[in-house]
Formats: sequence, structure tokens, C-alpha cells
Amino acid sequence: MKKIMLAAGIVSTVFFCSSFFSAPAPDNALSFKGAPSTKEQLGEVLFFEKKLSLDGTVSCASCHIPAHGFADTLPLSHGVFGRTGKRNSPSCANVSGRPYLFYDGRAATLEAQVSFPIEDHSEMGIPFTKALSRIAADKFYISCFKKIFNSKPTAENLRISIAAFERSLETSKTPFDRYMDGADSAISAAAIRGRAIFMGTKSKCFDCHFSPDFTGDEFRNIGLFDGGKLNDSGRYLISHNKEDIGKFKVPGLRNVAVTAPYMHNGMFKTLREVIEYYDDPYRFVPNPVNSDSLLLHPLRLTENEKSDLEVFLLTLTDDRFTKNLKRAN
Ligand code: HEC
Ligand code: HEC
Repeated sequence: MKKIMLAAGIVSTVFFCSSFFSAPAPDNALSFKGAPSTKEQLGEVLFFEKKLSLDGTVSCASCHIPAHGFADTLPLSHGVFGRTGKRNSPSCANVSGRPYLFYDGRAATLEAQVSFPIEDHSEMGIPFTKALSRIAADKFYISCFKKIFNSKPTAENLRISIAAFERSLETSKTPFDRYMDGADSAISAAAIRGRAIFMGTKSKCFDCHFSPDFTGDEFRNIGLFDGGKLNDSGRYLISHNKEDIGKFKVPGLRNVAVTAPYMHNGMFKTLREVIEYYDDPYRFVPNPVNSDSLLLHPLRLTENEKSDLEVFLLTLTDDRFTKNLKRAN
């Protein structure tokens, strides 16, 4: 029997597209042999293509590492010429249902998103047209695009391919999903308690992290902007609306146990630190600006509750990432 989650009037049907997520292998080998024959496969090749960066050293997979749930292990990633970016690289798996992308929501679709990292000075650092011309001059790609799109490589079909690959990265083979599908023993008693805490009024996690991917795709402020050392104003940079200062897109939590470090600035190394933060944010950031009212008071979770909550978060890890699953406390 499917278990359905309910939150503040929102009914989330438990629906997952498992698609062709056998890919790519954690060692960065491609998921298929031979030449790509679908747009997803072509997108996969392009995802690993370093020619899309100015100095030829960086691909999408450099920062979105398959074995780490398609996120980076560094607080801030390194791009071309070793340049350091401004934000932590989030997972680019489970993004097919997102209404906008990036911590500040500045890209509306996966297709539109593709050119941002390519052109970003501290990521791939190259004009999109120049990156495209490298692909368009490459015999291998000319033949792939011809076969798949019956056209030469164009900006549009390059975007379509990479986006199609990303849409295939839905991860639903997790202990949690097996539990939701009715396998009551798929997760431990501690994880079941942790789920209840996650969804309950004491922790408030589910107020922001709801839906099958554990995000409501809203912008919220959890107190990580203080106008001093913590000076990324998030959504405000795009909307210029004062109310948005310090708001960031609520990230989904699938595979969160393998995508450390956490938050837009990578300031927390472990899930336990994240839980300690939510328990009493002011202990970490004494003077946040515009923090969400849900976080006004310490949660006062017990040690057992914190531990159960963490065990629950570990159950959101897809089977293929479990070897990188760490419980770091
Ligand atoms: C140098 C590191 C780096 C490279 C290379 C890189 N990214 Fe990213 N990616 C990031 C960072 C950092 C963010 C978050 C930036 C922000 O929110 O402002 C991000 C965000 C994203 C997101 C949004 C995820 C979400 O949930 O909002 C997607 C999708 C994505 N990248 C795909 C790609 C693709 C496709 C490529 C290759 C064309 C690529 N990235 C190359 C670092 C990188
Ligand atoms: C008010 C809304 C809100 C509540 C309540 C909330 N979160 Fe979050 N959560 C966010 C936002 C927004 C971010 C991203 C903040 C950032 O990057 O600066 C986030 C980030 C996270 C991350 C880091 C994910 C990543 O990939 O970096 C984890 C883990 C997390 N939350 C777990 C929880 C847990 C567990 C609870 C309950 C104890 C909780 N959240 C309660 C809004 C919320």
C-alpha cells in the first residue's frame, strides 16, 4: 500500500519516474557502451565533456559528482584555472520537478540553466557560443547530433540533451521509498521514529521540506544571512524585494547523506551539524536578518530525537550511492 504524505492542505501523491537511472556509474564511466543513440545518452556524454570549459579542465561532473548524488564534496567548487565559486554545488539529481533552479531561482528550466555554469567566470568560464562552436566542430558530435536530432549541433539541441540527461537522474530506489511502498521492515525502528519527528510539529522540518523530493520549492530564510560574514542575500539578488533578503530555495533532501557539505555556502560538514543548527540556530548565527518565524525558538530536540532524525535522513539515499553513505558522528 502506498503511504501518502499530507502537509498543510497539500496532498503529495507518491509518484516517481525511475526512468533510466542506471547511469552513470559512480566511477564516472558512462552508463552505456558505444556511441550515444538517445538525447539522454548524448546529454550524459556532454555532462562529462571538459571542452565545454575555457581551459578544458572542467565538466559538469567535476562539480556534480555522480558518486556523491551529483553534488560536490567541497564547500565551494573549483572551476577553470582553479577559480573558487561563491556557492556550494547542490545535487543536480531529482531536478525534473523543480519549477526553478539555483539557490536564488534565477533559471526557470533545465534547458535555460545549461548556459549559466558554462558562462560563469568561476565555473566553466567560456561564452556559450564558443563552447557550442567547439562541439559543432567536433566530428564525433556532428555525427551524434545528426543521428539523434537530424541536425548539426545547435544551442537548442545541446540544451535539450543535457536537460534530458538531468531529467533521467530521478532517484527512487531508497529504503524510504520501499517503506512508503509498503515494505514495513525496509527502514529501522529508529528511522520510523525519525520520520515522525521530521513530519511533526516539534521539528517543523516538513513545513518546508515536503513533497516526494522533500522540498516545497519555496524560498525561505533559515537565518544564514547576517549582513556581516554571512553576506549572500540569496533570492533578493534576483527579486530586489527586501522581504527576500537571506531567502534561499529549499533544497530537496534525496541523497542528502552523500551530498555534504551543506547549505548554500557549504558551512556544515555533517547532517548532525545541520540538525544541531536547526535545534538552536542562534547558537551558530546570533544576529540573523529576517529569519523565518518557524525558527524563532530553539526546538529542544532530545539527543535521541536528533539521532533518529539523522537515521531517517540516511534512508533517503539511493542504493547506488550507499557505499558513500556516512554517519559522521
Ligand atoms: C565549478 C562548479 C560547477 C560546474 C562546472 C557546474 N556546476 Fe552546476 N552548480 C554549481 C553551483 C555552485 C550551483 C549552485 C549555484 C547557485 O545556486 O547560485 C549549481 C547549480 C546547478 C543546478 C541547479 C540545481 C538546483 O536544484 O537548483 C543544476 C541543474 C546544475 N548546476 C547543472 C549543471 C550542469 C548541467 C553543468 C554543466 C553544463 C554544471 N552544472 C556545471 C557548480 C557547478
Ligand atoms: C523555514 C523553512 C525550513 C525549515 C523549517 C527547515 N528547513 Fe531545511 N532548509 C531550508 C532552506 C531554505 C535550506 C537551504 C538554506 C541554505 O542553503 O542557505 C535548507 C537546507 C537544509 C539542508 C541542507 C541541504 C543541502 O543539500 O545543503 C538539510 C539537510 C535540511 N535543510 C534539513 C532540515 C531538517 C532536518 C529540518 C528540521 C529539523 C529542516 N531542514 C527544517 C528550509 C527549511
